Amino acid sequence: MASYFRLFVSVLAVIQGVLAAVTFTVPKQAHTGSYKYAPLDPAPVGISFEFFAFPSYFTNVSATNQCLSNWKDLSGVWPPIRIGGTTQDRAQYDSKTSAYVVYSVSSPADAPASLTFGSSFLTLAGSYGGSVVVGLNRGKNQIQNTISAAKIAVAEVKNLLAVELGNEPEYYSRNGQPIASGSWSPAIDAASQNNWDISVGSAVDKRPIIQAGNSNDSPPTWGAAELIATENATVKQYVKTYAHHNYPGGSVTSLMSHKSISSNLHVFDADVAAALKEGKPYVFGETNSVSGGGAAAVSPTFGAALWTMDYVLRASYSNISRTYFHHGTVGNCQYCFWGRYSMGAPYYGAYAATALLAKASYLTALDDGSNNYAAYVSFDSNGAPLRALLYNSDYFSGSGTRSSQSFQLQGLSGSSVKAKRLTADSAASRVDQGGKVTFGGQTFTDGDCKIAGSESIETLEVSNGQATATLKASEALLVYLQ
Ligand SMILES: *[C@@H]1O[C@H](CO)[C@@H](O)[C@H](O)[C@H]1NC(C)=O
Ligand SMILES: *[C@@H]1O[C@H](CO)[C@@H](O)[C@H](O)[C@H]1NC(C)=O
Ligand SMILES: *[C@@H]1O[C@H](CO)[C@@H](O)[C@H](O)[C@H]1NC(C)=O
Repeated sequence: MASYFRLFVSVLAVIQGVLAAVTFTVPKQAHTGSYKYAPLDPAPVGISFEFFAFPSYFTNVSATNQCLSNWKDLSGVWPPIRIGGTTQDRAQYDSKTSAYVVYSVSSPADAPASLTFGSSFLTLAGSYGGSVVVGLNRGKNQIQNTISAAKIAVAEVKNLLAVELGNEPEYYSRNGQPIASGSWSPAIDAASQNNWDISVGSAVDKRPIIQAGNSNDSPPTWGAAELIATENATVKQYVKTYAHHNYPGGSVTSLMSHKSISSNLHVFDADVAAALKEGKPYVFGETNSVSGGGAAAVSPTFGAALWTMDYVLRASYSNISRTYFHHGTVGNCQYCFWGRYSMGAPYYGAYAATALLAKASYLTALDDGSNNYAAYVSFDSNGAPLRALLYNSDYFSGSGTRSSQSFQLQGLSGSSVKAKRLTADSAASRVDQGGKVTFGGQTFTDGDCKIAGSESIETLEVSNGQATATLKASEALLVYLQ
């Protein structure tokens, strides 16, 4: 009897799991209904390269160009890049060296404690087809050296979007940076940034040219609103964008949870609003799953790939124009999307997000971020729905039964829609350890990032404007509405 009862309960749970669909209505047109709509950058998904490692990525890691160009194939534009990080504040420009970078490290896994770079570093940055942000040194307090580098950046980087003056200045004191000797605080840093913005901006004779902010501690302290309040009109004319860094951290389960992603992004709402009020874009200039190069048990997993996808979409929906995912030391980088020899699972999440946003002008979220199930819709320049992305962020570890959730989309037209699934054996799957992650049935090859395998497209029937899709725990589905 007891076992029959257990069977009955588990059958009921399975039936409920399938029947209790989450329902979303796709607006017929952008800017209608009670939804919020974010205008989209042509390429919201970007890459940040750690300053000293940038030349290696572009000259000695074959996957780099192909991984970036795969997104260009979707979007029509090269993804934006930012070059910077902790080593930008350890780097000095050397007009005499012909090398990209000069440094020594005791192990290839290390980042250099100090380095120099030549004008060829900036010429290399100028050869990139997408927009480029170059992070320069403020920590060493050698403004003439930074001005010399900024002049070369302006001359050599044809797609230069902005230069940063310092990286994560809240850590300058702790890191023994000369500019913070004496005392250091958000107010002192803001005064320093403002003076440097004017000095460097006027020396290169460009307005606006500065990506300001660049802190990592959670706002409001060290945030954009706080910085903007200290700026007068002279400073503001040099500021192109406001940037913040973000590494949410946590376990795979907490990281990939849609509810936690949504709350994490609300931390930035006031800063985003403050930047937009100035008519300036707000960006995540450097971000990834876990700080310090990533966590081995978290950052390389498929769960982190799902975080990457949902995080950049929620950021874009929150009016964060561009999100630059950081890439550190080649060969010692848990969260990297690709390396010299292997792909990382997170690339697939970024790819799926790029596929939703490609050639779109607006993005909305159909969910309120209060549970594990997300739905986004992108719109074309005429405001017509282009694609939808559904995400079941329930965690599946790989053992036990994998639950599923049905998503019902309403307000559709036509008799069917096509879809591509982002999936893996579990949230724990790691491409770098032989796990298989697929998007629309396809993979990206280790070492060269070429798309491989045959494409698998699903068809969802539409009747009375409704279509239902079933997503297993830890899966996403991209639905093509045109
Ligand atoms: C390229 O990478 C290989 C393998 O790690 C390394 O031995 C070599 O020094 C690198 N070359 C350059 C120019 O960075
Ligand atoms: C604006 O602020 C800068 C420092 O942030 C200062 O040097 C400059 O004099 C100020 N300009 C005006 C017009 O107040
Ligand atoms: C994003 O900005 C647009 C205006 O461009 C606004 O209508 C929308 O509400 C903002 N989104 C959020 C989530 O605040």
